[in-house]
Amino acid sequence: VTAEELNEAGPEKILAPVLSATWDTPDSWTLDVYRAHGGYRALGKALAMAPDDVIAYVKESGLRGRGGAGFPTGMKWQFIPQGDGKPHYLVVNADESEPGTCKDIPLLFANPHALIEGIVIACHAIRSNHAFIYLRGEVVPVLRRLQSAVAEAYAAGYLGKGALGAGGDLEITVHAGAGAYICGEETALLDSLEGRRGQPRLRPPFPAIAGLYACPTVVNNVESIASVPAIIDRGKEWFRSMGSEKSPGFTLYSLSGHVARPGQYEAPLGVTLRELLDLSGGMRPGHQLKFWTPGGSSTPLLTEEHLDVPLDYEGVGAAGSMLGTKALQCFDETTCVVRAVTRWTEFYAHESCGKCTPCREGTYWLVQLMRDIEAGKGLLSDIDKIADIADNINGKSFCALGDGAASPIFSSLKYFRDEYEQHITGRGCPFDPAKSTAWA
Ligand code: NAI
Ligand code: SF4
Repeated sequence: VTAEELNEAGPEKILAPVLSATWDTPDSWTLDVYRAHGGYRALGKALAMAPDDVIAYVKESGLRGRGGAGFPTGMKWQFIPQGDGKPHYLVVNADESEPGTCKDIPLLFANPHALIEGIVIACHAIRSNHAFIYLRGEVVPVLRRLQSAVAEAYAAGYLGKGALGAGGDLEITVHAGAGAYICGEETALLDSLEGRRGQPRLRPPFPAIAGLYACPTVVNNVESIASVPAIIDRGKEWFRSMGSEKSPGFTLYSLSGHVARPGQYEAPLGVTLRELLDLSGGMRPGHQLKFWTPGGSSTPLLTEEHLDVPLDYEGVGAAGSMLGTKALQCFDETTCVVRAVTRWTEFYAHESCGKCTPCREGTYWLVQLMRDIEAGKGLLSDIDKIADIADNINGKSFCALGDGAASPIFSSLKYFRDEYEQHITGRGCPFDPAKSTAWA
């Protein structure tokens, strides 16, 4: 969807895009185009402010982490101890891999300098002289583009010697991960960055106290950091004029599945799925929405009755789910919910790092039972069994992956228990997979 289309077709709530404004501009990823659209203007303003003032400003803007948890960004920066004599690090989590989540990769591809400018501002604020970008290694074209943008920023003096003025030098290291989902969990990411097998660490201590190389570290999502230059440049009041009091600002929503025009839609927090579907041409012709995920498969499923839920942290929370990564996967009436949940469960079992028993064993057994139910070989008692296993994973696992694996089991049983029963009593799947393009 082009910026022009968004502006023309959008309901009043959809404002002019910010992060995606130049995605259709030729060579949008270059320094020249970024600067021609006001890029690196915010950096001058930020460097003229004291580091603590930048932190306070971002805190007052109300920016919340866009990686899924929605933790206040300014508050996270404030946790970094000052005058401790240790190096401080900024680590950008670009290991996006929650099923359905695909916003950071296009952002990096089309607008890498927004991230780099945000990194310089953040490093000035937390008094860090070294930032790392941990990127999914599979996306080689994005890796190359990011590396060339970083090289451009060095050549232009935004990075390197004296980049932070009185704050000294700033280095950025772009690191390509090897594609494990668990390495998106912030402490597993830090282990991986240090050269070890990526497995979550016990928290607390949180990375802000003991992170990379046991030093105070801010771990922020790509979109969070890339949003900072616009906030500094246009002001916290402008940012707060969008969204709600507790969830202010704009964000990227990733619309996928059985929709007429899937893609990235930038809108203020609090927009509804109904409004985004209006923009995207609705569900594919002749079909209706059956269920959807507000923030990837780790967030509890919602249904058509939730079309008017405000897509912000409070609104989605009140509907019994979580905003998460804002990956709106929409499934129509041709989709077998048992099949969808089985595929997700297989994903979690495959990606479980094996460190803790509830997740390692539980996801394995969930897959066995879900496959049986899907194939019509299950027993009615298996329905309570999967709920029981999910209950033994949820809240009893070491990291959020376990809870994420349990989530689609609970919510699909809540809304579609009858479909599980149908598979068992009818001895097979009542749906025709050929009609469901999402799974073709
Ligand atoms: P969390 O709520 O435990 O932590 C969020 C952030 O706040 C972390 O950076 C943490 O260090 C910081 N934090 C929290 N309490 C703190 C304290 N007392 N002191 C200092 N720092 C503190 O969430 P978590 O486990 O880091 O992430 C879970 C989220 O990740 C889920 O909501 C999910 O949506 C998202 N996710 C995103 C994926 C993606 O591809 N973007 C993949 C999988 C999950
Ligand atoms: Fe590893 Fe799963 Fe335990 Fe997380 S919950 S530590 S992914 S086994």
